[in-house]
Amino acid sequence: MTKILTKHFDEPKLHELETYKRLDGYKGLEKALTLAPAEVTAEVLKSNLRGLGGAGFPTGAKWGTVPPVDKVPGPRYVVVNADESEPGCFKDRVLLTRAPHQLIEGLLIAAHAIGAKEAFIFVRGEYQNQYDIIEKAVKEAEAAGYTKHAKLMLMRGAGAYISGLDTALLETMEGKKAWPRQPPPFPTVAGLMAKPTVVNNVETLSMLPFILREGGEAFAKIGSAKNGGTVVFSVSGHVEKPGIYEVPMGSKLRDVLTLAGGVRKGHTLKCVIPGGTSMPPLMEKDLDLALDFDQIRAAGTFLGAGGMIVLDETADAVAVAHNIERFLTHESCGQCTPCREGSYWNEEILERMLHGKGTPEDVPNMTRIGENITGKVICALGDTVGMVTRAYIQRFPEDFKKRISDGQKS
Ligand SMILES: Cc1cc2nc3c(=O)[nH]c(=O)nc-3n(C[C@H](O)[C@H](O)[C@H](O)COP(=O)(O)O)c2cc1C
Repeated sequence: MTKILTKHFDEPKLHELETYKRLDGYKGLEKALTLAPAEVTAEVLKSNLRGLGGAGFPTGAKWGTVPPVDKVPGPRYVVVNADESEPGCFKDRVLLTRAPHQLIEGLLIAAHAIGAKEAFIFVRGEYQNQYDIIEKAVKEAEAAGYTKHAKLMLMRGAGAYISGLDTALLETMEGKKAWPRQPPPFPTVAGLMAKPTVVNNVETLSMLPFILREGGEAFAKIGSAKNGGTVVFSVSGHVEKPGIYEVPMGSKLRDVLTLAGGVRKGHTLKCVIPGGTSMPPLMEKDLDLALDFDQIRAAGTFLGAGGMIVLDETADAVAVAHNIERFLTHESCGQCTPCREGSYWNEEILERMLHGKGTPEDVPNMTRIGENITGKVICALGDTVGMVTRAYIQRFPEDFKKRISDGQKS
């Protein structure tokens, strides 16, 4: 299988500059600096690179919306979103740990492309080890003279999942409560300190050294239509070999499961959450689905940030939905009433069901609550709150019926 980001992961000292350089490190940046900023963006557009932080927005197109320096003079920024907090996602943690220079090189390429003289790496507060590793790598890059065109700065989160949402992240960076902004304007027009700002995920930026070194077309060829390159899945749950697996975009779900050793021995597949707990699950019938942003979406769910959670027949959909709703209730920022109240209501109902006190009205009630959240809130966390329980009710109605009827018998 073609690998880009994890190709050299068997090199024990890949996190050190000397090893990274020996393996073609910083050649992509050297190439980028010989090009005009617009040419770098054109190469990224050609690559079909999609944002790997969750939304799958085409990276080159996002950069293209930053107003050029001659039209809007003044500072502009690039921010690395390393706030990885979606349950089931841990690929950014591994990329930060094993290949910090790959990310730094990508970030410096992005800074050149949009004309940013300052760039930030925002690291999830709980990722102390990764913060230390990236801090050391930044110092190495500075000492080697790679940061002449852009100063790199590190910041740490304080433990809120919502801070991973780009506009909430920017609020956090400004020292404010992490309440998502209502776009427009989008961050590329008015982001950090109201200046044009590109926010990109760790994995997205880590792809750039390859794209600049080998060319956008070579990257596009690896993936599927409009989804260039590879994607790194974090695979966890009921599999034999949990871990991260890098595969070309458009690989089949079946192939990723095989890499992870398949469903644990003696058990059968119930479902697979493809992109982190916020996404509706895929079913056994979807095993031959090609995994890219567009094809997963057509199947009714999302690639998200590739946090693949595999569940076998021992998982109970009511307990799974309760677990996710409990997380979302805790993490709802409280700004939008439907999300703040709705997540809590659903959690309470599911909790009651788990304790044998469910009633037949609970299922239509939770469906109604969900319908009154999705699309009526500022951010995608709220949309998720309205979506998750409905997705489990729709896919596993028998689990809900059983919980209710078992409760009524006791
Ligand atoms: C609740 C929530 C949490 C998010 N957390 C992250 C995160 O931890 N890291 C990330 O890169 N993107 C996260 N995102 C997506 C970001 O808002 C944004 O789309 C992304 O950082 C853009 O980078 P990309 O274009 O490279 O994917 C989150 C979105 C939502 C709704």
